[in-house]
Amino acid sequence: MATVLLTGGAGYIGSHTAAELLEAGYDVVVADNYSNSSPEGIRRVEQITGKKVKLYEADVRDAARMAEIFRENSIDAVIHFAGLKAVGESVQKPLMYYRNNIDTTLTLLEVMAQFGVKNVIFSSSATVYGAENPIPYSETMPRGTCSNPYGWTKAMMEQIFEDAAKADPALSVVLLRYFNPIGAHSSGMIGEDPCGIPNNLMPFITQVAVGKRDHLTIFGNDYPTPDGTCRRDYIHVTDLAAGHVKATDYVLKHKGVEIFNLGTGTPYSVSEIVEAFERVNGIRIPFEFGPRRSGDLPESYANADKAAQLLGWKAVRSLDDMCRDSWNWQKQNPNGYRTE
Ligand code: NAD
Ligand code: WQD
Repeated sequence: MATVLLTGGAGYIGSHTAAELLEAGYDVVVADNYSNSSPEGIRRVEQITGKKVKLYEADVRDAARMAEIFRENSIDAVIHFAGLKAVGESVQKPLMYYRNNIDTTLTLLEVMAQFGVKNVIFSSSATVYGAENPIPYSETMPRGTCSNPYGWTKAMMEQIFEDAAKADPALSVVLLRYFNPIGAHSSGMIGEDPCGIPNNLMPFITQVAVGKRDHLTIFGNDYPTPDGTCRRDYIHVTDLAAGHVKATDYVLKHKGVEIFNLGTGTPYSVSEIVEAFERVNGIRIPFEFGPRRSGDLPESYANADKAAQLLGWKAVRSLDDMCRDSWNWQKQNPNGYRTE
């Protein structure tokens, strides 16, 4: 079976993808600098699957270190998760975001070329559709205007992959545009482990549930949506990980660039998420309505048809599954992977 290198594989989506790839029979190599993760996530993936992962502490910007990894392993495909992802921080520290995200991508493509590795999958984001495109978003729409440097790095990296594939017809590139991944592995052993105050909705809710924060602030209730709160396409991280297995099968068999939305196609509002979390887990989440958060769009959701047609992939887990598994992870690991 083929060997897949996951850059940033110790992180939230990478660790769940590692588990699904191992279960599907792929060999997995991980390169991560632990800037937003720890090796513990991958140790737990090994416990869950009973299989070994070859784990390297490595900065993807370090070409010599990456060359060692490619030399020591016969890599068939790469999934490039490594990157910084906090939207607000990217507004404060744009150069750090451009440096890290663009440099990792350029270095990876150069080292892949050096070793003749031709297959790559990239973690892009629905944020590249920008404010101009109508919902639901389809892959045929042009990239739009992003509201923050993080989003621009994703748009620029998509362009870099497209240009690299134009110049090298042997290259096979899959750009995956994720919508809003939440949830955790059904075992509760791996999940999202944000540093400091969570930026994203579900980790904030689970930290309120576990008593770390006293209430949730819902950012805006005057949007042009059915209940006035923003609507998003939340997707269970295990469904997302399964999408990566299908994308790996695909990238190994095709040439050129293909873009896929990974979403469910069904939006839920912030208020609906809070209600579902409370109902499924029997826990009250105190909240108050606050002002809108700058840069938030009223609605974002996928047309998920292309992934169904070409990859044979569909999200199958429900919002209740997402709420139950997010809480199961948080309550078993109140401090994430830290033991204190
Ligand atoms: P994460 O922070 O948990 O994982 C990213 C991993 O990359 C971390 O383990 C981090 O330590 C590592 N990393 C960062 N810079 C590195 C470098 N220079 N060298 C080596 N490792 C490095 O985030 P995630 O949620 O798992 O996201 C994975 C990818 O998916 C990211 O590229 C992110 O932008 C993208 N994405 C995430 C979401 C989301 O909502 N979580 C949505 C769309 C796209
Ligand atoms: C969801 C909804 C908030 C926190 C972000 C990135 C995107 C992608 C996924 C990341 C919004 C509301 C949130 C809170 C709230 N990539 N909210 N109170 O903004 O849709 O997408 O993550 O790598 O690029 O922008 O996700 O989870 O931050 O917010 O009311 O304390 O929850 O306003 O409507 P978002 P989110």
